[in-house]
Amino acid sequence: MKSSELRQKFLDFFEKRGHKIITSASLIPENDSSTLFIGSGMQPLIPYLLGEKHPKGVRLCNSQKSFRTEDIEEVGDGRHNTFFEMLGNWSLGDYFKKEQLPWIYSFLIDEIKLNPNKIYASVFYGDEQIGVPKDTESVAILKEIFKKYEIDAEDTDFVGGKEMKEGERIFYYPSLKNWWSKSGLPQKMPIGEIGGPDSEIFYDLGIELKKHENSLWAKQSCHINCDCGRFIEIGNNVFIEYKKTNKGFEKLEQKNVDFGGGFERLVMVNQGLDNIFETDLFLNIIKKIEELSGKKYQDDKKSFEVIADHIKSATFIMGDNKSIVPSNTGQGYIVRRLIRRAIRFGQKLGIKEGNWVEKITKIIVDDYKNVYPELETKAKVIKEELLKEEVKFNQTLEKGLKEFERGEDPFILFTTYGFPIEFTVELAKEKGQEINLKDFEEKLKKHQELSKTASAGMFKGGLANHEPQTIKLHTAHHLLLAALQEIFGKSVKQKGSNINAERLRIDFSFDRKITDEEKKKIEDIVNEKITQDLNVVKREMPKEEAQKTGAEMEFGVKYGNTVSVYFIEDKKGNIFSKEFCGGPHVPNTSLLGKFKIVKEEAVSAGVRRIKAILE
Ligand code: SER
Repeated sequence: MKSSELRQKFLDFFEKRGHKIITSASLIPENDSSTLFIGSGMQPLIPYLLGEKHPKGVRLCNSQKSFRTEDIEEVGDGRHNTFFEMLGNWSLGDYFKKEQLPWIYSFLIDEIKLNPNKIYASVFYGDEQIGVPKDTESVAILKEIFKKYEIDAEDTDFVGGKEMKEGERIFYYPSLKNWWSKSGLPQKMPIGEIGGPDSEIFYDLGIELKKHENSLWAKQSCHINCDCGRFIEIGNNVFIEYKKTNKGFEKLEQKNVDFGGGFERLVMVNQGLDNIFETDLFLNIIKKIEELSGKKYQDDKKSFEVIADHIKSATFIMGDNKSIVPSNTGQGYIVRRLIRRAIRFGQKLGIKEGNWVEKITKIIVDDYKNVYPELETKAKVIKEELLKEEVKFNQTLEKGLKEFERGEDPFILFTTYGFPIEFTVELAKEKGQEINLKDFEEKLKKHQELSKTASAGMFKGGLANHEPQTIKLHTAHHLLLAALQEIFGKSVKQKGSNINAERLRIDFSFDRKITDEEKKKIEDIVNEKITQDLNVVKREMPKEEAQKTGAEMEFGVKYGNTVSVYFIEDKKGNIFSKEFCGGPHVPNTSLLGKFKIVKEEAVSAGVRRIKAILE
């Protein structure tokens, strides 16, 4: 089956079962500063999994653009990619396990004709520590499903060192493998995050690619979760019914289903392949690289895969509705790394032609524009930015490589030759050398302090830069949130923010339009606080203590054990605003100027947005 047909079949299958198809959300998170990119279909749906009403109802499905950097080093083994599509279906407090499991297996076996004898399942073993029981319910359902295909599926606890026996098909694994949340293990989840046990689906490829000596499972013989390459995960049914609270794990008011299927892998097994780069999702790209380099894919699979994967990811990120271009911070830095790494592998492959990256991008845009039309709309910008980046990097690559050979400091390679540190680390590794990362980080920190530029852009209160006007607007942002809460009550919560030198933007939970009169009142409060000469004071404290002060936290953001809280208070210590925040801020509100709201609008159901300036 062609990949486009498979994608459509999935959507049709769930549409027939009462689901509404929703468009893929942007790759850049909307109201969530906890990650740089969307890494799964569920992430943009978190508010609805928590109980907010989705305008399209309680059954949804889509194919979501996703990007994960975790596996970037793994690209090259035929299975890993950084950009991928995730086929998803969701129940928002509607159906649960006994509908989801039969449906998804029917899709895999009846619709896309996977051989049921090659399918295996994992289920949650239970976890006493968090009070979540063993998922025997899913096992009973799975056994019935397999029986339909005349398979007598035995279940067993996965215990270290055990051999997989003939007939065993359903395996209980602990939280490490069968618990899903955006942050991973239950222990890693911040308060307020949701998650639950999951049941993963594996396909037996019948081959073994590597011994799992360095893996978590090194001491065990092959099993469905080991990394030897025989089994591959193709989908995951997450039963999201828990939320982490101060008191431990509590049941959500609604039981949700979150299914995510790795599209490239599904296409791969459906097409009878064991390598995603041989599917029609990569074929044209691989052919183009063959043409440009004069080499065959089989000659140097890793270089081909890195180039194909990275340029695809860079194209999708730059082709997103949010305008991301290569830069030294945040998402832009990741794009830069991807492009530069691809260029270097191109050089290794012996691509002589100048400015070739853009030629590959064109193929990606053509291959995907029917499903993701934004790629075509943005095609011109992608091309221009890629060209700029390629020209810029080509000017320094040769020279930088020579300097690297001579033993130049990685920090100089970074600042003068534009070598991302990960890139230099990789060059060193190839020569069996090591880079002193600590030294690099110290130098970088000093450099950043000097030039006052933001680093990765994470948890910086949504600040685009650290120019004085941006910092002022950041402090005004805190005053604004406190003013909103003063007028509308504490239930108003920040849902996102973005601040640059021109204006601040805040997204917050509120379910109706704000009247002109109310706008005036908000402005008056903020301006009053500005003239009251309030001090802006940063205090570092353990997270628990900070929570006790009742300081504002942004939902979905991960906080460390020690946090900094910014207080805006008068000389007597009367506090007007307190927020978990990484700064920076002005020391006193009198520096701000006059606050003015320039826009108020809806973002989504129950979320409003205000844009404001300082005159
Ligand atoms: N959120 C789950 C995952 O990414 C399923 O969609 O695996």
